[in-house]
Amino acid sequence: MAERVDPARIPSRTLPSGSKIPCIGMGTFGSDRYGPDEVSTAVGGAIRLGYRLFDCASVYNNEDVIGKAFEESFKSGVVRREELFVTSKVWNDMHGKGDVLLSLAKTLRDLRLDYVDAFFVHWPFPNYHPPGCDGNARNPGSVPFSADRFMRTWSEMEKISRLGLAKHIGMSNMTISKLEMVLSRCEIKPVLIEMELHPAFQQPELFYYCVQRKIQPIGYCPIGSPNRPDRDKTPKDAADTEMPEVVAIAKAHGIHPALVCLKWQVQRGSIPIPFSVHEKNYAANLHCILEEPLGDAEMASIAKADKNCRLVKGQVFLWPDAESWEALWD
Ligand SMILES: NC(=O)c1ccc[n+]([C@@H]2O[C@H](COP(=O)([O-])OP(=O)(O)OC[C@H]3O[C@@H](n4cnc5c(N)ncnc54)[C@H](OP(=O)(O)O)[C@@H]3O)[C@@H](O)[C@H]2O)c1
Repeated sequence: MAERVDPARIPSRTLPSGSKIPCIGMGTFGSDRYGPDEVSTAVGGAIRLGYRLFDCASVYNNEDVIGKAFEESFKSGVVRREELFVTSKVWNDMHGKGDVLLSLAKTLRDLRLDYVDAFFVHWPFPNYHPPGCDGNARNPGSVPFSADRFMRTWSEMEKISRLGLAKHIGMSNMTISKLEMVLSRCEIKPVLIEMELHPAFQQPELFYYCVQRKIQPIGYCPIGSPNRPDRDKTPKDAADTEMPEVVAIAKAHGIHPALVCLKWQVQRGSIPIPFSVHEKNYAANLHCILEEPLGDAEMASIAKADKNCRLVKGQVFLWPDAESWEALWD
């Protein structure tokens, strides 16, 4: 069994509320490859190992079994509720008309919690597609982004925040132009934004836009999601763990390139949420944060290696007459 990490040694970031969030967490999307029970077992193992931040979502279809892992961890005294930072997200078919509250109610029942630490709008439009659908699938009911429509969903997010059911609220898969349209209209501003971040896709403009506004970035696909669903793969996609700059630094430190990706992100200021059900991997991901940091030249070398290569293109959310996935990311 992997060596436990004292969670108090894992650095945290402070949110505007004064709440702390660990600088690294664990993702829980099984990528259509790992079943709910495998993910739930890994969550239980990760809690015992010292993880305190878990990124969940209703669409990952495993919150009910992850809830059992949380409950068992509380009952056995491994961790107390208030020591965990649990996030979840409202899926695209639950925007508007009170559905955000319904979605959160189901998430809370499934996760066996009274509140989540953060709740996100998973995608900024109500364009539903079932999990696991084909990459070429299109839903004729899909629509382009509308600030007015988004704000109706956001006002429901503000309600659940006021009710205390979500300690913090956040957005995901946003762009600067969309944020410019909505931030000034928010009564309660997002304090966290989830975005794709890895060496081959660094999004420096969006990243620093958020940092300047005290919105903490959480980086998804931090290792370049090598096992992402086939619908999200194209021949031109970069593989972060094979990038020469990343491999050279990994060799110099004697570590796996995946860990270089994570160290770079934590040192840059984002919160990576790597996924693995394999103890060897999720243990290494937590341990590496406490081991030898990257040097300034290594950080600079990765910064220069950005390929602007988005992996989660979201093409299944396109509306019927949209030309290509780039239309989602204006
Ligand atoms: N907000 C959103 O729209 C959104 C979108 C995508 C993802 N997410 C969140 O972000 C999380 C992470 O993204 P992701 O799962 O797509 O990608 P990822 O974390 O970049 O990659 C996961 C893969 O990396 C491998 N890996 C993990 N640790 C490793 C290590 N130490 N050495 C070698 N390989 C390692 C794992 O392989 P093995 O399986 O072989 O261990 C795993 O399949 C998700 O689980 C989800 O919670 C959010």
